[in-house]
Amino acid sequence: MKIPKRIQPLVDDGLVDEVISQLMSGKEATVFMVRCGEEIRCAKVYKEANKRSFKKAAQYQEGRKSRNSRRARAMEKGSKYGRNQQEQAWQNAEVDALYKIAEAGVRVPHPFGCFEGVLLMELITDENGDVAPRLNDVLMSKEQAIEDHQLVMIYVMRMLCAGIVHGDLSEFNVLVDEYGPVIIDLPQAVDASANNNAKAMLIRDVDNITTYYGQFAPELLLSKYAQEMWALYESGELTIETKLTGLFEESNVTADVDTVIEEIKAAFEEEQDRIQRIAEANEID
Ligand SMILES: Nc1ncnc2c1ncn2[C@@H]1O[C@H](COP(=O)(O)OP(=O)(O)O)[C@@H](O)[C@H]1O
Ligand SMILES: [Mg+2]
Repeated sequence: MKIPKRIQPLVDDGLVDEVISQLMSGKEATVFMVRCGEEIRCAKVYKEANKRSFKKAAQYQEGRKSRNSRRARAMEKGSKYGRNQQEQAWQNAEVDALYKIAEAGVRVPHPFGCFEGVLLMELITDENGDVAPRLNDVLMSKEQAIEDHQLVMIYVMRMLCAGIVHGDLSEFNVLVDEYGPVIIDLPQAVDASANNNAKAMLIRDVDNITTYYGQFAPELLLSKYAQEMWALYESGELTIETKLTGLFEESNVTADVDTVIEEIKAAFEEEQDRIQRIAEANEID
């Protein structure tokens, strides 16, 4: 097909040789199948900020830091330079997240870099070499649903161990190839420790996935993986070795407060006793 304007610079630089077809045009990006030498790859062209429909960008960007203070100041000021920097930070967020979570042992398309607002990555295909379907288009047996759900929970846990919450995980952002689920679409990935919305996003991500697989295996709907993972993460106990159970007992805050008050009372009484004993000892002297 005719080379889209946004991909032309990559053709000029010899990174892309041919644009084969357009796969999708979503709210954030347009995705193409391209040829790079002998290889067929996927090129994701980000829409410019004013054409994006991501409503709650601020919610995602909270806690996202720029390592460069001049850049950070410009981004805050919202100057043209600042807007450009912000745009680049947004575009690089996905390739950064892909490298980081691939390293953590999560199946994602292999990234080849982000150039001029175009992310080049591995094209995920099915066993016939066609573009892999999204989880949303896949029906499966109960056994398969339980197995794949477990694997996605492990991926979510590994991302959390790497300090990342996907933030937009659902059956539309998981592809399925012959080896199983592959996680995609990460420009909005959030920093688990710096973003106050991280826990809520983790819960939503896990709920979306569980609801989807739950159609085939309803027992999954009772699991509480997000709450379990988050509690372990917060207490510093989550590691990639953690064996998740999906069980989680909501802690009863009232009971906890009562226990603490009992303990304070006991400590206070002990202290009173001690003072009393010292006073008595002094009197005897
Ligand atoms: N690496 C890939 N391999 C195959 N198909 C892909 C790949 N990346 C994206 N797609 C297809 O393009 C669609 C849009 O990509 P996505 O990253 O989810 O962007 P958007 O923000 O537009 O949802 C996906 O739903 C999927 O069908
Ligand atoms: Mg998507």
